[in-house]
Amino acid sequence: MGRARMPSGDSASVFAPDASPSQERAPLTGDRPDGSLEKASLPAGAEKRRAVRQMFDTIAGHYDVLNRVNSLGMDRYWRRRCVDALDLPAGSLVLDVACGTGDLCDELARRHMQPVGLDLSSGMLAQARRRRAGGDGGRLGSSGAAPLVLGDALTAPFRPASFDGTVSAFALRNVVDLGELFGELARLVRPAGRVSLLDLGKPEGRLLGFGHGLWTKHAVPFVGSLFSDGDAYRYLPKSLAYLPAPEQVVGLLEDAGWKAVERLLLAGGTSQVYVATRAGRPQA
Ligand SMILES: C[S@@+](CC[C@H](N)C(=O)[O-])C[C@H]1O[C@@H](n2cnc3c(N)ncnc32)[C@H](O)[C@@H]1O
Repeated sequence: MGRARMPSGDSASVFAPDASPSQERAPLTGDRPDGSLEKASLPAGAEKRRAVRQMFDTIAGHYDVLNRVNSLGMDRYWRRRCVDALDLPAGSLVLDVACGTGDLCDELARRHMQPVGLDLSSGMLAQARRRRAGGDGGRLGSSGAAPLVLGDALTAPFRPASFDGTVSAFALRNVVDLGELFGELARLVRPAGRVSLLDLGKPEGRLLGFGHGLWTKHAVPFVGSLFSDGDAYRYLPKSLAYLPAPEQVVGLLEDAGWKAVERLLLAGGTSQVYVATRAGRPQA
């Protein structure tokens, strides 16, 4: 299996020639002068990207704690399963797409891999750095020395085949175009490299589905409005509608250059992980 092309501690070699390794890149789209945001019904295209970025900037400060509460403490276990499914050895260079506050980077670092985090929201990355600096009293972990890069996953500022693998958690619903995302991930990962993508799902069992519906439609927005931004947390159940049916997701991955695609269900389908291997011959 090919190994990371980035010597430990040197992140510069993975950046595309026209991309600055600087962590604070220019804003990707202009915010509206009045800063308004219709969070409850996110639009499509560039407007969706702008709204998603602004929403995560707004909720970044309480994101980690509410994540634990809203998932009933299961989110960390789900991320561990996501990294298990990646199935790459220690030392692998792995891009955490839409890394947010850095939880998956933490998990990769715990497995002695070399994570690089990429996210659209400067607020979420600032929170990741605050955690790293121990600003949360060390309660929520720290992504160690992972480079954290501000940028859009659909136009990631890295060279082709730079990574041994890529992961993401709870981000698929938020990107503007899933096919484009899968194509970009295929560009970034070397042949025979791996992808493992975790997101929420809709449980199929009636009882679990009923309980899950009540929880996401009522409890999550209520808790969100108490501690953070109720509109943003009302977005959660709506955002599940952005995720295509499993067979379509599998088709999009295959069309983008991924093979051996598998879907793993967690917690009765309340979460799911798509795993796949990059098509093409491994480099010698
Ligand atoms: C629900 S959070 C998940 C964060 C983190 N992965 C976790 O496990 O908690 C979704 C993240 O996706 C990021 N995001 C959404 N669209 C993105 C894009 N096109 N490129 C990069 N990041 C994006 C948001 O800024 C946000 O941090």
